[in-house]
Amino acid sequence: MNFVAALNETAASSLRVLEEQIRQSIAEDPFIFEACEPLFKGGKRLRPMLFLLCANSKTDCPPEKTMPLATALELIHTATLVHDDIIDTAKKRRGVETTNSKYGAQIAVLVGDYLFAKAFQLVAENNYSHEVTTVLSKLVKNLCVGEITQDRSLFEVPSLTEYYTRINLKTAIFLSSCCRLGGIVSEMESREVENLTAYGAGLGLAFQIIDDLLDFFGDEKITGKPHGGDLKSGVITLPVIRALEVSRDAQTLKEIVTNGGDVDAAIKIIQATDAVDYCRTRAEAHIDSARVNLPMTLKTSVALALEQVADFIVDRTR
Ligand code: IPE
Ligand code: IPE
Ligand code: MG
Ligand code: MG
Repeated sequence: MNFVAALNETAASSLRVLEEQIRQSIAEDPFIFEACEPLFKGGKRLRPMLFLLCANSKTDCPPEKTMPLATALELIHTATLVHDDIIDTAKKRRGVETTNSKYGAQIAVLVGDYLFAKAFQLVAENNYSHEVTTVLSKLVKNLCVGEITQDRSLFEVPSLTEYYTRINLKTAIFLSSCCRLGGIVSEMESREVENLTAYGAGLGLAFQIIDDLLDFFGDEKITGKPHGGDLKSGVITLPVIRALEVSRDAQTLKEIVTNGGDVDAAIKIIQATDAVDYCRTRAEAHIDSARVNLPMTLKTSVALALEQVADFIVDRTR
């Protein structure tokens, strides 16, 4: 299912404006444009679209209040991907060569920093409140702590609690912040803002669980990023945690994942268990609890689009 197909017409037209604003935001410096333009040709735009849907979920919020922040959210997200690919020494992202692979890690650090700075410039120059800046700063800090926690425990099997803490910090808080910011910018009542935040949090957990499944079983041509990368770099995720609990070959699997061994052999062991179904069921449960939080007061068209985004997250192949 195409993510854009899940959007209503208003949101689809905002997406076109967003693309133009992203382009402008990287056009100031010729090298930044050369390095970033191919990367921005891909990507699902999930975070800015969640923000835009939430910002327009009760009344129509003027584009000058939403578009700079929507652009900033995508710039921040892309900056984290550029840095994540340095950490993971990944070669492919959004179907193209990563910045680190093309220009080296030194340049990629700076390209990521540039995108962060540009995002905060957009926020500073467009009269957003302190609350907005605080939400943005906190989401970046949480994401960093999530990535640091992950990097400090490579090749170690996390407990379920440790896994959930990590994916909450690195992914779910970002998605919940996008929804929260939509509520804040459109001046919704605080209870509705909290509900939208909770919707985004459930979505975010499901999103990372599915991402972790796609790392094993996704099609690289569709995801646009390498396959099996998590295991090779020592990141142990939910399919492995589950298989270690139930597999007859748990001991062999443990040796593979803690020593960075044969990914194909690990996949075979995982596939012989219920781990894939288990992960999907967990993701669906988070999506269900996300849906429950959608306020009843939203416009029908947006409520429907947010329901469809929830469906997309579990059904996605990219
Ligand atoms: C990738 O996010 C990083 C994760 C949190 C899993 P997306 O899957 O949203 O990446 P793009 O923006 O579509 O490339
Ligand atoms: C999310 O985790 C990365 C960030 C929060 C930046 P992953 O490491 O799983 O993301 P991908 O799979 O590389 O996109
Ligand atoms: Mg990664
Ligand atoms: Mg991943």
